[in-house]
Amino acid sequence: TYVVTDNCIKCKYTDCVEVCPVDCFYEGENMLVIHPDECIDCGVCEPECPADAIKPDTEGNIEKWLQINLEHAKKWPNITQKIDQLPEAEEFDGQEGKYEKFFS
Ligand code: SF4
Ligand code: F3S
Repeated sequence: TYVVTDNCIKCKYTDCVEVCPVDCFYEGENMLVIHPDECIDCGVCEPECPADAIKPDTEGNIEKWLQINLEHAKKWPNITQKIDQLPEAEEFDGQEGKYEKFFS
């Protein structure tokens, strides 16, 4: 599966949802997540993210994000169409430690 990681937080560009063939993105206030049981591992979303926030779960240190994606995909609503990025997206793109500061 692929997972959404830290740099989506406070950006939420949502380009990713437009290309997913199985519509497995879910929307929280500050970020999106991928449902790991629904993702078919096609990889097309990864290069679409302007914030480079989508990673394959074969990368190192991804276990924390896999759990976050799984847990929240079960609670948050499905999103299948692009919406406007968050107004502060460019300011927060690339900042460190966004999960600890802003995740909700
Ligand atoms: Fe959707 Fe493919 Fe990305 Fe998985 S890898 S979330 S199936 S676009
Ligand atoms: Fe987030 Fe990138 Fe999608 S910033 S909403 S994972 S396009």
